[in-house]
Amino acid sequence: MPAHDPIEVQVRATRALARDVVEYELARIDGAPLEPAAPGAHVDLQVEPGGASQLRQYSITNARPRGTLDSYRIAVARAANGRGGSDWLHDTIRRGSRLRLGRPRHLFAQTDPAQPALFIAGGIGVTPLLPMARAAAAARADWRLVYLVRGENRAAYLDELLELDAKRVTLHVSGQEDRRLDLAALLESAPAATQVYCCGPQGLMQAVRDLSRARAPGSVRFESFGGAESATGTDAPARGFELRLARSGLSVQVAPGASVLEAIERLGIAHPSSCREGICGSCESRVLDGRCDHRDQILEEHERRDGDRFFPCVSRCAGDSLTLDL
Ligand code: FES
Repeated sequence: MPAHDPIEVQVRATRALARDVVEYELARIDGAPLEPAAPGAHVDLQVEPGGASQLRQYSITNARPRGTLDSYRIAVARAANGRGGSDWLHDTIRRGSRLRLGRPRHLFAQTDPAQPALFIAGGIGVTPLLPMARAAAAARADWRLVYLVRGENRAAYLDELLELDAKRVTLHVSGQEDRRLDLAALLESAPAATQVYCCGPQGLMQAVRDLSRARAPGSVRFESFGGAESATGTDAPARGFELRLARSGLSVQVAPGASVLEAIERLGIAHPSSCREGICGSCESRVLDGRCDHRDQILEEHERRDGDRFFPCVSRCAGDSLTLDL
């Protein structure tokens, strides 16, 4: 777990949402309320495939803009070629099972629920967008949700979405010619003031990213729990460089195949981390000097250009040396 105590929870209920997708309702064992989680928030969940403790990230599907929560709901899709975490949950976790959670993280924030919004969900990527759509509906915003799935029986939370406002929800099932999605037309049809939120497979997010380059910085947001593929689309080869840690007064050469986070750890510094895939944000560091080669899936384009935020589990240096505030 990251740098805070895990929360002990118990599975209060489970529910089959769609083919290979199960919802788990998690409540504190001591009965206390859980801390607030705004739409788009996720938690780190400790899983133990093969007996080895690992962390996975899941969106809180009942997150809401204000107030504590009695329970967190997460939805887990069985990953066909995954690392075993979803299989372990599906096969061993039942009502009454105990699990350990981190605190909610807000890396995919809804800017303003009242703002016009276009939500683009691919498969299980619907999970952070469902609470955002609920908040948009409650704020009487002009919103639309486009939901791409491989089969209608795989559309988790479709009933909840249709109940919110069926006119604002469009389901696209892959392979059905008459329901093929024209992504370019969809994005063109969204006025400039519309905030776009997309969560799903890398291919979908890259297509949305490519088609949104003309939109204002920060007006298109992405979330992926699907893997470590670069969100920048960079395929530049990794290069070696010198890593300097300003506060510790340490430096080390980072080899082309080594990660910055591992280099920090080898220097004996206990730095927080969780996913190690550039997804969760727990290893965030501040850059004092050097050009970054951002490979995380957290920062928006304008944040990459202007900011000093850096995720050493996946990101690297684009020059000869990088200095971090560590
Ligand atoms: S450990 Fe999750 S972003 Fe680096």
